Amino acid sequence: MEAKTITLVQESFEKVKPIAPTAAEIFYSKLFELDPKLKQLFPNSTEAMKEQGNKLMTMLAAAVAGLSNLDALIPVLQDLGKRHVAYNVKESHYDTVGAALLGTLEAGLGDDFTPEVKGAWANVYGVMSGVMIKASY
Ligand code: HEM
Repeated sequence: MEAKTITLVQESFEKVKPIAPTAAEIFYSKLFELDPKLKQLFPNSTEAMKEQGNKLMTMLAAAVAGLSNLDALIPVLQDLGKRHVAYNVKESHYDTVGAALLGTLEAGLGDDFTPEVKGAWANVYGVMSGVMIKASY
């Protein structure tokens, strides 16, 4: 992965961190708007969704921080991908989650979500989800 891509993703994620709980809420509302059937994969209490949002943001933070050392990140993503099979996540769902993620970043970053930043995130999500999928299906 190019150093420039990593820097763009890491710097833009720093700006999302302070609004992480809001970003998590935006993410799930976008996700369920794109595919309402995905709701049934997640716990349905508000508390549990908050917890889920925390987990997602924490994992994204760890992944973004770990991009500079992809070798160490890969086994973590492989395990995460395998656990997602048990959550009934299908390969096709990864595209929907990717679209919800980009939409969330756009909402959270506003003008800072430049085409360059968007491209960098699409690249990073593609690599992360690719590793998860390859380990799982
Ligand atoms: C890069 C992509 C993704 C990341 C980083 C990610 C991250 C996480 C994390 C950290 C957890 C907590 C549980 C664990 O560690 O095993 C989790 C759970 C879960 N994720 Fe993902 N995920 C991704 C993609 C997806 C996709 C594509 C779906 C499909 C809708 C999905 C649906 C779920 C569900 C249903 C759970 C379990 C919820 C529960 O029962 O508590 N995730 N995810």
